[in-house]
Amino acid sequence: MKIISILNQKGGCGKTTTAVNLSSALAREGYKTLLIDFDPQAHTTFSLGMNNSKGICELIEDYLNTGSPSLDSYITPRTENLFVVTSSLGLSAIEHKLNSREDKLYILYKILGPAASLYDYCIIDCPPNLGVLSLNATFAGNYILTPFLACDLSLQGINVLNQIIEMMAEAHPTTLSFFYLLTQYDRRFRYSLEFLERARSMLKNKLLPIIIRTNINLRESQSLGKTIFEHKPYSRGSYDYTKLAEKIIDITQQIKWTRLFLKNKKFKEVHVVGDFNQWQKNEKYKMKKIDTETWTISIPLKKGKYHYKFFADEFWLTDPLNSFEENDSFGGKNSVISIR
Ligand SMILES: Nc1ncnc2c1ncn2[C@@H]1O[C@H](COP(=O)(O)OP(=O)(O)OP(=O)(O)O)[C@@H](O)[C@H]1O
Ligand SMILES: [Mg+2]
Repeated sequence: MKIISILNQKGGCGKTTTAVNLSSALAREGYKTLLIDFDPQAHTTFSLGMNNSKGICELIEDYLNTGSPSLDSYITPRTENLFVVTSSLGLSAIEHKLNSREDKLYILYKILGPAASLYDYCIIDCPPNLGVLSLNATFAGNYILTPFLACDLSLQGINVLNQIIEMMAEAHPTTLSFFYLLTQYDRRFRYSLEFLERARSMLKNKLLPIIIRTNINLRESQSLGKTIFEHKPYSRGSYDYTKLAEKIIDITQQIKWTRLFLKNKKFKEVHVVGDFNQWQKNEKYKMKKIDTETWTISIPLKKGKYHYKFFADEFWLTDPLNSFEENDSFGGKNSVISIR
């Protein structure tokens, strides 16, 4: 499952519109897609004409009470291949509860673990701030997709966002890919073309080549509780979000994000080393400790066969959760993983 968090602390830049219509476009392409409304404003829920039956609030409550909720009970099917975890205002109260927990940044990461093989994509719509919910989505995701508007303050906002995520990443190592999506773009203004040049020179190849143009049908569909494909399938909005989904599929399908786990209370530092990082201990492959005993990391791997080990403090260990092993050249064993 590829997890894409739609994140920007700035309000009104197209996060919800992108979450709803990108998810719907991925589902139409035949990919089983889970859409999580992770915003107490519940705009994704309303934009899809749904109400909060049993959704994210109940799911997190269940996690806090039992430690292993059945995700299925909190998912509502919306159309073929599109499944939704709805939200409601109660999520802000839960956000406060999370603040007192040691694992407060990894709740969503843990909740989504069992869904990894059940869905092709998971899209998370974040609130317009960088509080504990957005940070949960950041650490649960493999990709961060940031929609932004054609104005210079938006570019400044992206700088702030990057700085904050970099600061967080120092304490919580992460292997994330970032993409930026220009939305509500109107090319009739000279300013827009000049802005696009500025955005390209700042964001380089992280700026997606697909641009979402201003389209009143997108606004209408949101208030009607429909996706753009249900409301106006031949509109510019429908075309742009289909193109975006094709691009996202193109980028993400070449790579499989693989999660590794190690349980140990005593280790102070654990890295994963293998032929994917030339057997070098590397900050990017430092595992994060998500509770008192669980170390984990998600690593992006292309098709192929890989050998690896954990390097924990001074010790080399094979992966106790992986029974596939091969001899190494020092008379020991390596764990082996194959990506098809
Ligand atoms: N391409 C577009 N063309 C026209 N209107 C759009 C477009 N994209 C979004 N909008 C409208 O702009 C407004 C803000 O969009 P949206 O709700 O997606 O932003 P958001 O980033 O999720 O906001 P918030 O930060 O409050 O969650 C909505 O009314 C939406 O319908
Ligand atoms: Mg929103």
